Amino acid sequence: MSLPKHVRLVEVGPRDGLQNEKQPISVADKVRLVDELSATGLSYIEVGSFVSPKWVPQMAGSAEVFAQIQRKAGVTYAALTPNFKGFEAAVEAGVKEVAVFAAATEAFSLRNINCSINESLERFVPVMDAAKQHGIRVRGYVSCVLGCPYEGEVAPAQVASVARELFAMGCYEVSLGDTIGTGTPNATRRLFEVVGREVPREKLAGHFHDTYGQALANIYASLLEGINVFDSSVAGLGGCPYAKGASGNVASEDVLYMLNGLGIETGIDLDKLIAAGQRICDVLGRANGSRVAKARRA
Ligand code: HMG
Ligand code: MG
Repeated sequence: MSLPKHVRLVEVGPRDGLQNEKQPISVADKVRLVDELSATGLSYIEVGSFVSPKWVPQMAGSAEVFAQIQRKAGVTYAALTPNFKGFEAAVEAGVKEVAVFAAATEAFSLRNINCSINESLERFVPVMDAAKQHGIRVRGYVSCVLGCPYEGEVAPAQVASVARELFAMGCYEVSLGDTIGTGTPNATRRLFEVVGREVPREKLAGHFHDTYGQALANIYASLLEGINVFDSSVAGLGGCPYAKGASGNVASEDVLYMLNGLGIETGIDLDKLIAAGQRICDVLGRANGSRVAKARRA
């Protein structure tokens, strides 16, 4: 199969990245990060989440962040919402696109959102209905698609059934998350092959964590399967609070460098992306998780 000509990068650093940082991060620093990211040419930024602050304290200021960012035309600013309460808070904050998330395994679902997979899907029904009324698009995530910290191996058919449900209830796109980063390229190809029988491939995205150093290889494998939307996190920020050892999302800079080399169009400026990533790393006093950023700055 030939490679896609265009890829859309979904920048999840401000949400998936910062949710996992230990030290407090001010609203001003989050706003600055989002604004710098929107100046790079990225067309999609997941800005924050409306989840229980007891579960994920770092996302508590998301409404303020949404109120203060400079919205640029052509950029989607999205929020993660686990239930109707979160959805209502997101609408109140002026959010125009949300994401719901379910797990491929029961054990992860319980630890991440305190309910079974089916209960989580039932919780999304009122969210989907209200979203339709408000003209809000909903993206879906499935986590633990290539491995679970509690259950180990995950069968692609299991992922396919959750992805099918999310798509059937109205998610316009379903992102498959290798939450703990254990996936390898052939497993990734097999995953998209199986899930692609239930959900059209052009409605699927890849969300890879680089815990085992496999993320770029898995993205390349996904490209070969015709997937052209990928989630990534500037400077490789992040992980997942309930997936021990999930050291971070694949760095957006590294994905962009690879796509540039492959001649695949994204509309994103690498230098600006590197600068935005380095600035947030300086704020956090954290090492930059992007290999490309490190090499360019050396
Ligand atoms: P629960 O404790 O079962 O919920 O949590 P509850 O309904 O019993 O409510 C408990 C308390 O939370 C109540 O407050 C509710 O009002 C409040 P209290 O009466 O105790 O003061 N509450 C909320 N507050 C704010 N916003 C809300 C909300 N809902 C209830 N939306 C719940 C269930 C889902 C709320 C909780 O488990 C939760 O917030 N989980 C979020 C976990 C999370 O954010 N995980 C990270 C994101 S997923 C991820 O990173 C994976 C992904 O990136 C893909 C990948 O990497 O593969 C997407
Ligand atoms: Mg993630």
